[in-house]
Order: sequence, then C-alpha cells, then structure tokens
Amino acid sequence: MWRPPHVTKHVVVPDRWPSSANAAHSHLFSEFSQGRLKLAERTWVPAMVPWRATEDGEVTDNVLQWYGRFAKGQPGAIVVEATGIRDIPSGPLLRIGHDRYLRGLETLVKRVKEHSQGRTKLFIQLIDFLRLNRRPKPSVYFARYLKITEHHRRALADLTKTDHWIDAPEADVRSFLAEQSDQRLLDVLTERELENLYLGYRERVTDTHLEHIASLPAQLPRLFSEAAKRAESVGFDGVELHYAHAYTMASFLSKTNQRDDGYGGSLSHRLRCPMEVYDAVRQSVGDAFVVGCRFLVDEVIDTGFSARESPQIALAFAHQGMDFLSLSKGGKFDDAKQPKVGQAIYPYTGKSGYECMPTIYSDTRGPFYRNIDAMADVKAVLREASLPTPVVVAGGINNFTRAESLLKNGHADIIAAARQTLADPDWFMKMRQGRGQDIRRCKYTNYCEALDTRHKEVTCQLWDRIQIDEPGIALSKDRKRRLIAP
Ligand SMILES: Cc1cc2nc3c(=O)[nH]c(=O)nc-3n(C[C@H](O)[C@H](O)[C@H](O)COP(=O)(O)O)c2cc1C
Ligand code: SF4
Repeated sequence: MWRPPHVTKHVVVPDRWPSSANAAHSHLFSEFSQGRLKLAERTWVPAMVPWRATEDGEVTDNVLQWYGRFAKGQPGAIVVEATGIRDIPSGPLLRIGHDRYLRGLETLVKRVKEHSQGRTKLFIQLIDFLRLNRRPKPSVYFARYLKITEHHRRALADLTKTDHWIDAPEADVRSFLAEQSDQRLLDVLTERELENLYLGYRERVTDTHLEHIASLPAQLPRLFSEAAKRAESVGFDGVELHYAHAYTMASFLSKTNQRDDGYGGSLSHRLRCPMEVYDAVRQSVGDAFVVGCRFLVDEVIDTGFSARESPQIALAFAHQGMDFLSLSKGGKFDDAKQPKVGQAIYPYTGKSGYECMPTIYSDTRGPFYRNIDAMADVKAVLREASLPTPVVVAGGINNFTRAESLLKNGHADIIAAARQTLADPDWFMKMRQGRGQDIRRCKYTNYCEALDTRHKEVTCQLWDRIQIDEPGIALSKDRKRRLIAP
C-alpha cells in the first residue's frame, strides 16, 4: 500500500473511557432522531466487504455469523457491505439484483435483529460497478484483446521505416507487437491500450461509444430502485446508495467525468445521474424507509474534486431530501498501484486509498480523525443552509473522548468506525457499559485491508489466533485464521 513520503509511526494512545453513568449522559450514547433516521445511539458500523458470500453472491452461514457478531455489540446502525444491484457474476460479494437473493437477505436481517435485540438499525449499501478485467499476460493481450487498427499499422511503418505493415496479415502485426520493448510500445499503442496492457481493461462512465455505458443514466435509476424495493421487502430499515470511492456512481460525480450528454462536465451535470437514481429509489419505497448515500469529501486525485467542492454536493443531496449523508474520502482507481499479471487493479492501493483507510505509518497528521475537518465543513455548510440532514463521519475514529467532543461541538451527527469495530465488535457496548479498558484496540496497520485487496476472507490480526481450536469455530479456507471475532 502507498505510504506518505515522510512516515512517522503513530501510536494508539490510551483513552479516558467513560463510566457507565457518564456514557448514559453522553451524546454518543443518546438517541438520534432526524427525519426518517432514528437510532438508539449515534454509533454506526460502516460498510465493510468481508468476502464471505458465495461465488453467486448469496448469503452464506459465514455472512450471517459476520453480521450477527457485529449486531451483538448493538451499535446504532450497521451498513451491510457494498451489495451488487445487477444480476451479473461478481465473485463472493453479496448481490441483490434478483429476487432469488431475497431468502438469504431476509435471514441476514433476522439474524441482525435477533442478535441486537432489535436495537440496531440495518441498512444495506447498494453498489453498481463497471467491467474490470485482470491484468493480462502480454502474449494474451496481443494475441486476443488488442484490436489492430490503421493507427497501429501506420505507427509500425514509421517505427520500422517500411510500409510492409500497412497490409501485413493481422497475425504478423500481433506477433511483432508482442516482441516489442515497453519503450517501443509507447510509440505504437494509444494511452488507453497501454493502460489495458499494463493495468487491465477497465470501463469508465465516459466510454460513451459503448451503448451500455451511454445508456447508464437510463438504466441505473431502475436498477437501484428495484434493489431498494427488494431490500425493503425483506425488512432492511433503509439503503445507503454507494456514491463513494471508485465505482459507477462516484465516477458520475467525479470531476474526471467529462461526458458530453448532459451527465458530465459541470457539477450540476455530474450530479444529474446520482439525483435521478435517488429520486427513483425514493419513489419506489415506502415513506418510512430510509434512503441515504455515501460520498467523498475529497477524491484525493489530481484531477478530482477536493474538500472545497464536496459541500456543494452535500447541499444538492440534502435539498433533494436524502435521509443521511455518510462521508468518506479517496479510494480511487486513478492512482491505484499496478496489479501483478493475472490480478485486478484495486482502488485502495494508491494515495487516495491511503486517505480512505489511513494507517499508523502516516505523516505528522496521523491516521486518527484524519478526515474530520473536511467532514465538519460539510456539516457546517448544510446547517448554514438550514438543512438538518444527518452527517455520518468516519476515518480513524477510535476512542470516546474525541468522538464525544465531535458530537458535542456539532461537527458530526453520527460516529462511524470500521476497523475499530472489526477489531472489537463489542467496543461501543463496552464503552456504554463502562468497560472501556476491556476494548481490543485496532492497531491501524491494515492487515484486514491487505486481505480485502487480495479478495480473501477479511479477518483481524488481533483475533485471528485466539482460541483457534475452539469447537465449532468458523475458520478461513487455509484454517489458520478465525472468521469471527472472539
Ligand atoms: C475490509 C474493509 C472493507 C471495506 N468495504 C467497504 C465497502 O464495502 N463500502 C464502503 O463504503 N467502504 C468500505 N470500507 C471503508 C470503511 O467503511 C471506512 O470508510 C474506512 O475503513 C475508514 O474508516 P475506519 O478508519 O474507521 O476504518 C471498507 C474498509 C475495510 C477495512
Ligand atoms: S487487522 Fe485488526 S487491528 Fe489491524 S487494522 Fe484491521 S481491524 Fe485494525
């Protein structure tokens, strides 16, 4: 993973945990009610993909155990991992693109409701993503994937100073190209072809020459609203539209989106598809059903939007009536590391990925509460406009004192913690019960994220080896790691 140039190793400092009496009077553990969003407390487990679904995207026993374990800690809300809205193969990620997924998802809802004793609200994150191929072997790329064009023939003719390439059999062009050095290929392949060769083919929302990409604004409102209706039908309390990180909806919002069909370019055009999706979802579900979204306060890429622009996005969503705005940062493909041959590019491996899930190997700012200033600005702008839309903040949140002061000082409405809750799913409950000293504290070294990057079942280094021979305990495929927190 990317690291800042001048790294300091930060430490997780002890906190002054509250007594149960103090917790009972805290903001963090007070009820929250704004519009449709009603929580027993202001704690939130944001979406985390654990890679536990079947290859067909079905809920498994391990998925049930994963969410059941979080539910036992009784947070205010849990957001189920990014769940695909289409009925297409996407590996062991949950899917909600067809009614056949309903039975499994219903069991998941029941499990969370039972284990949290009805205390935790359950949302599901709805995601759309575009085609992404693994980085090909160069021989395969030149033999099968590269479309030989006039441009290649002319470039080869210039390079070799012979017109022979203009009419040469295609097979000859392919085998000649496969033998060329990287340096020579720079003069022959287009920028996009070089990317396909070195990173793997990746579709973008700007590929409007492809009919299925041009028609995304026409398709997505229906796909998202059908998924939301399914979520509602099995008992989820609401949906979180995934407008963050590297995926389709974030790509519409991105400043890199220069579509010229009214869905790219200026901010109002980039907002159009996300707004139309939201409107369609809102109209297709019941009045009590919560519909919010997750989006970025900063894309953290040179060509992206920054924290100066994101409050405008928040204002637009809030005006449109979203029930909450959950904020994140970075996590883009644009600056991701080159994958190995046979692997797919992963959006959390570059600088923007670092900002999404910062580690203790950080710059002087450190990983803790790193995104809060930008997130607090979003909330301030909403309130100045008299918009009460709840704001969920995340990023290195790991103790009571600072989380509480964020709420007290009005910088946030709800506190989300991903990795700290992974390390100890009971941590909110332990604080509430005055048992803060028992909390297993996240080390922020991203062992979990490294598993996620390799599409392996996500676990935490702090609980992997504890009581691993406990009877009936679920273990990873290599039988070396616990799948559930002790
Ligand atoms: C293993 C793992 C999987 C994640 N999956 C998702 C996801 O599906 N959707 C999402 O919006 N964020 C995802 N995230 C990002 C987290 O929700 C969160 O924004 C990020 O980890 C920063 O919060 P933290 O510092 O409390 O961990 C994931 C994070 C981790 C560690
Ligand atoms: S593996 Fe565990 S301790 Fe390490 S960053 Fe992830 S949640 Fe925290």
